[in-house]
Amino acid sequence: MPGLSEEDVDPDPISQFLSWYEYAPGDAVALVTASPQGLPSGRVVLLKGVDKSGFVFFTNYGSPKARDLAANPRAALLFFWPPDRQVRVSGWVAKVGRAESERYWRTRPRPSQLSAWASRQSEVIESRAVLEERIVELEGRFPDEVPCPPFWGGYRLIPTSVEFWHHREDRLHDRLLYERTQEGWALKRLSPLHPRLDPRTTPAPGPPGHCQNRPEPRVKVRQS
Ligand SMILES: Cc1cc2nc3c(=O)[nH]c(=O)nc-3n(C[C@H](O)[C@H](O)[C@H](O)COP(=O)(O)O)c2cc1C
Repeated sequence: MPGLSEEDVDPDPISQFLSWYEYAPGDAVALVTASPQGLPSGRVVLLKGVDKSGFVFFTNYGSPKARDLAANPRAALLFFWPPDRQVRVSGWVAKVGRAESERYWRTRPRPSQLSAWASRQSEVIESRAVLEERIVELEGRFPDEVPCPPFWGGYRLIPTSVEFWHHREDRLHDRLLYERTQEGWALKRLSPLHPRLDPRTTPAPGPPGHCQNRPEPRVKVRQS
C-alpha cells in the first residue's frame, strides 16, 4: 500500500488535504473545543467548506461549543477516513462574516432551516413534542422564506498545524506534520509510536492490575 512521502505531498497542507478529501467517505469531522477551565469537549459537525483560508462549519452561536469558542477561540478537527487515513488539524477559530453564513443558509432545505430556529442547541427539552410544536408555530411565522437566525452561523478554523497519518504495515505508519511558521509551512516527519508505548515490547506503567496499552483480557461472565 503506498504511504506518504515528503517528496510526494503538496507543500501546502490545504492542497494536500483536498487531494485526500476528494476520496473521503463523507464530510463529518470531530470538532474539539475546550472551556476556559481547560475542559475538553468533542462532537461531530459537517465540514461545509475548505480553502486556503481554513475549514468552515456551521452551528448555533448559543451552543456549548460556541461558548467554548467565545472564551477560548482555539480548536481541533479530527478526520478518520477508514481504513487507513487520519488528519488532525488545530488552529484558531473565528466566526465567518454574516454574508457568508446567509449564503450557506439559503442552500439549506426549508425543514433544516425551521429546525435551526426551533432548537436551542443542547438545552434540555421536556419532550420531542415540544420541539414538534415549535416547528408548527414556525411554519406559521415564516410562511415564505425562512430568514437566517441571528443565533446561527459559521466558524472558520484557521490551521496552525495539520498532520496527515497513513497506515503502513507493522505499525510503521507515516505521519507528516505541517506547522505554520513566519515563512510559510514547515514539514516534519513524526514517529508513529514511542518504543516504550509499544505494547508488544513494554508493559505500560500504571496502577497494579491496570494496563493502558495492552488489550484488556476478555472478561468471562459466570453463568449461575
Ligand atoms: C453526522 C453528524 C453531523 C453533525 N453536524 C453538525 C453540524 O454541522 N453543526 C452542528 O452544530 N451540529 C452538528 N451535529 C450535532 C453535534 O454533534 C452536537 O450534537 C451539537 O452540535 C451540540 O454540540 P455542543 O453541545 O457541544 O455545542 C452533527 C452530528 C452528527 C452525528
